[in-house]
Amino acid sequence: MIKAIEWTKNKLFLIDQTKLPGKLSRFECKTAQQVADAIAGMKVRGAPAIGVAAAFGVYLGVRRPPLAKTFEQLESQVAKLCALLGKTRPTAVNLFWALDRMKRCTVNNRDHKLATLRDILLREALNIYREDEKVTKAIAAQGAELMRDGDTIMTHCNAGALATAGVGTALGVVVEASRKHKGIKALVGETRPRLQGARLTAWELKQAHVPFHLITDNMAAYFMKKGDINVVIVGADRIAMNGDVANKIGTYGLAMLAYHHNIPFYVAAPVSTFDRSLASGDSIPIEERSPLEVTHVNERPISIAGVKALNPAFDVTPHRFISAIITELGVVRAPFDQNLKNLFANLV
Ligand code: MRU
Repeated sequence: MIKAIEWTKNKLFLIDQTKLPGKLSRFECKTAQQVADAIAGMKVRGAPAIGVAAAFGVYLGVRRPPLAKTFEQLESQVAKLCALLGKTRPTAVNLFWALDRMKRCTVNNRDHKLATLRDILLREALNIYREDEKVTKAIAAQGAELMRDGDTIMTHCNAGALATAGVGTALGVVVEASRKHKGIKALVGETRPRLQGARLTAWELKQAHVPFHLITDNMAAYFMKKGDINVVIVGADRIAMNGDVANKIGTYGLAMLAYHHNIPFYVAAPVSTFDRSLASGDSIPIEERSPLEVTHVNERPISIAGVKALNPAFDVTPHRFISAIITELGVVRAPFDQNLKNLFANLV
């Protein structure tokens, strides 16, 4: 399986996803700043993968000389590293979830020697990594149960192994469904402007031997009307407690189309993607990226010189268009506010 993030011999390696599918290359991140740059520049992307990379970023920061000499120095170093890493991408809540875990881990282990505490921080980053491996497997298994022989499953953006530490969320479901059921096919939206569907999801599906077609984003309604799409599944960057879902721009439109055509629309996401402080999706911050991503493709201009462009990277799908949210703890359906409350009732 593809590993977007690797921790080997005490070093952090990331696949440079901006070079895919043309070139599969790994690079080492030696500092927290390099991890922050990799996240902001989308060399590593996808909400869970961003969180995992950031956790390692904190450890890379605290182990770099000059080392903190007191607990207070270490605590303030961790706070500064979390601020640096937290500035990179505002929508993916897994980033803040992972950074909060690193901060909590620091405080909870204040009585240890500083060298031991630094090792404990590495262990916490590794825990976040390994938990994601387990959680994504559970999501893939539960999601595959919802698919049927012969289904054509549409997905958007990339919520695969490249976007997590494990098998992926939505794309993990597609791959697992194709192992479990006969005749599964996928339909992949190209996902302008960064083309995660065309570049990354297509690349992953080919490796997993899942038959698929690539379509442009504006073809979805045509294929739904023809009856060629049985189910839609996407990942998420942040989910509010009423079930509203922020995901890659274009997800909201797809969900409305699926609703109109009576096609099940599923969201697959780990518990770490829920923002338990938000009652609805209205206050989810939406990342605005450079207009150059819209005006240019592969650094080539595609419009008139000086054209103004807008580039919100995510949108929020209201929960009423969502058939179910597939988590590692179970499949949640409407009424989402009540059922999510129940799901989280037993969690700290
Ligand atoms: O901008 P990106 O490529 O980081 O956006 C990724 C998505 O929108 C994914 O669907 C989401 O992060 C879930 S990844 C398992």
